[in-house]
Amino acid sequence: MKKLLLIVVSLLTFSFTFAAEKKKKIEDFDKIEIGTTFKMYNSNGVELDPSVASATVIKDPNYEYGNVLHVKVGNVKSYVEIEMPDNLTASQASSKYEKLKFLIFRPEGQPDRFQGEFSLWFGSAHSTTTTFANINAPVGKEANLTYNINKVSGYGKTIRFGFSVKNVEFYLDDIYFLYTDYGYDYTDPLQTARYHADLIGKNLGVCVSPNQLSETSREGQTIYRNFNMVVGENAMKFDATEPSRNNFNFNAGDQIVNFAMRHDMEVRGHTLAWHSQTSQWVHNGNYSKEEMLAILKNHIFKVVGHWKGKITEWDVVNEVMAENQGRGVGQGYQLRGKGSGQESVWYDRCGEEFIDSAFVWAHQADPDAILYINDYNIGHWDNHYESGKTHAIYNLAKRLKEDGIPIHGVGMQMHTSVEGLNVASIERTVREFEKIGLKCIITELDMAGKNPSGTMEQATQATKYAGLADIICRYDNAPTMVVWGIADNKSWLENSEQTKPLLFDPTLAAKKSYLKVVDTFEKYATAAGVDSEIEEDMEPASKYVDVYNLMGQKVASQMLREDVETLPAGLYIIGGKKVYIR
Ligand code: XIL
Repeated sequence: MKKLLLIVVSLLTFSFTFAAEKKKKIEDFDKIEIGTTFKMYNSNGVELDPSVASATVIKDPNYEYGNVLHVKVGNVKSYVEIEMPDNLTASQASSKYEKLKFLIFRPEGQPDRFQGEFSLWFGSAHSTTTTFANINAPVGKEANLTYNINKVSGYGKTIRFGFSVKNVEFYLDDIYFLYTDYGYDYTDPLQTARYHADLIGKNLGVCVSPNQLSETSREGQTIYRNFNMVVGENAMKFDATEPSRNNFNFNAGDQIVNFAMRHDMEVRGHTLAWHSQTSQWVHNGNYSKEEMLAILKNHIFKVVGHWKGKITEWDVVNEVMAENQGRGVGQGYQLRGKGSGQESVWYDRCGEEFIDSAFVWAHQADPDAILYINDYNIGHWDNHYESGKTHAIYNLAKRLKEDGIPIHGVGMQMHTSVEGLNVASIERTVREFEKIGLKCIITELDMAGKNPSGTMEQATQATKYAGLADIICRYDNAPTMVVWGIADNKSWLENSEQTKPLLFDPTLAAKKSYLKVVDTFEKYATAAGVDSEIEEDMEPASKYVDVYNLMGQKVASQMLREDVETLPAGLYIIGGKKVYIR
């Protein structure tokens, strides 16, 4: 094969900062002939006669080389109509672009305070208005205004905007959409969090149910494209796998395992011994301690044995720790069950030894499986209401390890909130477990927002998601981050459509939170130079390649591999690698 003139670029020579605010010009009037008029409408969408309201391109009175639109509003609120660039429809524009920016200048002789509001309409559908109150544009000064725009559904290819004031006159200029450019297209398999997580050997997981796994559905595709690990949301719990005594049903779990195998994903097993979602027959059977332990042992051997070698790791015990205990390191723990004010069918009937035994049996059933103790409210090490419980589970995990029990790590569920999550405190927990030779991973992450419609809240959520991903990238003992659901509207949490705790929105579009997670994994994958390591593996791949630019846009489809050197010089993504063509 002809040696290609390709240089694979690693971070040592190049660094990419993907996320950046970008502008997309709607109109600056500079290329429009002076004297051209734009149509104006009243708020019922009726076109207005120029004697009532007019918009005319004139030479910019403040700047020699440009034009502006001179808008005159008469005795009726009116709106000027401007075409969107690139034939964009209202819904395309409003889902891609986040803000509208424009400049207005109000000539002398106008009232100084510009009372009223500004409205943006996509298309002619006036129901899609975004309204911005109290715009501040003093006379004689250029006012640069930026507003968040609402997402709309609609086909119109124009925007109309105007002011709910009568008898005003102003110059309009430099109208732009603003958006955050993450530099890649997450529907391209080479640009997903999964792709980069795979490169650095980390897991980004998601909980699933079998009905979400159709390969022809957008949901199924979203799962295998963006994640490299799955966990059954309910499919492998006791009540699902052993609905009646010694009668096992692996159907739902098998569907998940088979899906994962088809897409080269890892599977977490969740969970073997838990007080919740344990079959009624266990609760009602009035079994002695010995019978209970025999039941648990049989369950573990059958379930772990069934998926031996296919499930990489198990939550052996789940939520065994009592809530609300103020404890420090070395101060023991209180288990959930008798004496804690909470029930646990396993602890109440067996005492603590069910925990030790469950680990031993799981290890015997699959010696290669990585075994976790999993719990909620145990992520924050210090200065947090979780701290006492975090120390308690640390004390228990340390005790188990010192007793020679085959425990490999602690799973922090992390059902949390944007406000409540302190990333630095989570990192401290990871470090503390690292010191005692235990893994510490994130197993059921969701991050509810308090003010979900607020842009700020979602931006903070994105930053915190990225902060957690960053921990996963930096610590060997923290190889995994699992989110508890795909789309905001499918979460187990109440009101999740409003609190938006997950990585994808209800239309399965990637949220900022997801894109920032991609950014994070990508940063470490590039820094590690792993792109070049995999080059050899990928070389014998297809003779034909798709070529992408760094924006994730395809610039060539199925190009003969050796022809890529004929592309204009620059950086491309080819076969999953950044490639510099000279
Ligand atoms: C939840 C599931 O998401 C729900 O579908 C189900 O009805 C109840 O359980 N901690 C755990 C998970 O360990 O198994 C729980 O999952 C959420 C809390």
